[in-house]
Amino acid sequence: MNPAKRRTVIAGNWKMNFTPAEATEFINTIKPMVAGKDNCDVIFCAPYVTIAAAMEAAKGSNIKIGAENVHFAPKGAYTGEVSAEMLKAIGVEVVIIGHSERRQYFGETDETVNLRTKAALEAGLRVILCLGEVKEQRLSGITNEVVAMQTKLDLAGISAEQLKNVVIAYEPVWAIGTGLTATPEQAQETCAVIRGVLADMYGADVAETVTIQYGGSMNEKNAAELLAKPDVDGGLIGGASLVPEKFTAIVDAAQ
Ligand code: PGA
Repeated sequence: MNPAKRRTVIAGNWKMNFTPAEATEFINTIKPMVAGKDNCDVIFCAPYVTIAAAMEAAKGSNIKIGAENVHFAPKGAYTGEVSAEMLKAIGVEVVIIGHSERRQYFGETDETVNLRTKAALEAGLRVILCLGEVKEQRLSGITNEVVAMQTKLDLAGISAEQLKNVVIAYEPVWAIGTGLTATPEQAQETCAVIRGVLADMYGADVAETVTIQYGGSMNEKNAAELLAKPDVDGGLIGGASLVPEKFTAIVDAAQ
C-alpha cells in the first residue's frame, strides 16, 4: 500500500451468495465491526437481487454496496442482463467487471470487458476491473505478457480522466477460491508490471494514482503481508467476504 499516493480499497465479492434477508443480516453484523475504519474504502459487491437490501442495511455507515457485473448496452434485447443506467438508478456506485468466473463460465472476452467498462464509466460508475493469468500461463512464464495484454485491451479507449474511476484487481485465476494464494512477492511483482503498463499508457504520474488490488484467496491470515507490498493497494475478497470476522480482520490489516 502507498496511502500517500492512492486510496486503499477492500472489496468483498459475494458472488452467487446471500438472499436479501441474509445480506441484511450480514451487513447489520459487520457494520459496527468496520465502523470508523476509514483508511480504506469498504465495499461489498452483491448479486443484483440483493443490492437493494444490502444498501438499505448499509445506510449511514462507511460500507458501500456494488454490483458484480453490468452490460454495455443502455437497454434492449439482452435477456438476463442489467445496464449501467439501471444500476445508477438504484444508487449503485461501484461495479466489478471482467471477473475470471465471467470470463471462464460466461464467455466474456477482453473485448466485452472493455465495452462494459466503457459503458460503466460513461454512466459515472466506479469500476473494479479484474484480470489475471491462469495456471498454465504462470507455469509457462508468460504471466507478465498476459496481464500486460489484458490491461491494454481492457482499458483501450479509456481516458486518463476516466481512469480515476477504475480500480484494477489483479487476480491470478489459479488462486481464486482454491485456498492457494500468490506469495506477497508474486503479487507485488505482477501488480508492479500492471502499474508499468499503466505508466506506458497514461504516464508515470497517473499510474502512481491507480489503486491495484490483489485477489485470490486473500484472507485474515495473509492480508497484512500482501497489503504491506508497495504496489498492492487493497484486496478483492471472495470466500472471506462472507464471514464478518474474517473480512473485518482484512479491513484491520489495511488500517
Ligand atoms: P476468493 O475469491 O477470495 O474466494 O479466492 C476472490 C475473487 O474471486 O474475487
